[in-house]
Amino acid sequence: MLRLEGITAGYGETQVLHGVSLEVAVGEVVALLGRNGAGKTTTLRSIIGLTPVWNGSVVFDGQDITRRKPHTLALAGIGYLPEHRGVFPSLSVHENLTLVEGRRPGAWTIARVYELFPRLAERRQNGGAQLSGGEQQMLAIARALLLNPKLLLLDEPTEGLAPLIVREIYARLADIKAEGATVLLVEQSVRFALSLADRAYVLGRGQVEWQGDAAALAGDAEAQKTWLGV
Ligand SMILES: Nc1ncnc2c1ncn2[C@@H]1O[C@H](COP(=O)(O)OP(=O)(O)OP(=O)(O)O)[C@@H](O)[C@H]1O
Ligand SMILES: [Mg+2]
Repeated sequence: MLRLEGITAGYGETQVLHGVSLEVAVGEVVALLGRNGAGKTTTLRSIIGLTPVWNGSVVFDGQDITRRKPHTLALAGIGYLPEHRGVFPSLSVHENLTLVEGRRPGAWTIARVYELFPRLAERRQNGGAQLSGGEQQMLAIARALLLNPKLLLLDEPTEGLAPLIVREIYARLADIKAEGATVLLVEQSVRFALSLADRAYVLGRGQVEWQGDAAALAGDAEAQKTWLGV
């Protein structure tokens, strides 16, 4: 579904990615891990066209999409959950959802995301700004799902949330996975990410330093310490 081949990218003169190659197959959840500043967000931004790719290529669903514009990629089927929740604080929950429903019709409808997140249904008239951090994140995930993406890019979906809410969000991500979703997941919560993912890549200073089965990394304390410092 997604293949990066030797991506290089950066900001201004500063190179951040030094040849990142990775793959996500249809129906797979792949974790992209690494310490702060390793280049995880830059990798996602390069895929979606928010940070220009210098060299290398991005292939999505059989097409070369290197340097395509972000909005065309959303309609082509790449859902993107940015690092800091993309919900409109002045609009209600329901308005946030109706804004995106129908843009890319498919199995996910507002009724189905309310089933997945009953809390959003209860708060449908509340403004985005009145939601807790966890509810805002649920809303952001719901909005991404409503575009019925073929591939979902998630950047730290549980950043800054209390452990109980992290657990709840991961339970819902497991539901989404069970529906056959294809996901590239950036996370700091290594334990949760590896419990959900099929495979993992670890980035360090803009390069892939480790790759393999998520279960192998989850069971290898030494590798986690070496590559992730956890
Ligand atoms: N807009 C920017 N302008 C300049 N440098 C940036 C910008 N965004 C990120 N960087 C730099 O690029 C490098 C990689 O950052 P990136 O955000 O991709 O890392 P990350 O792995 O997502 O880190 P984190 O875990 O903290 O989110 C860092 O050195 C960072 O300082
Ligand atoms: Mg980041």
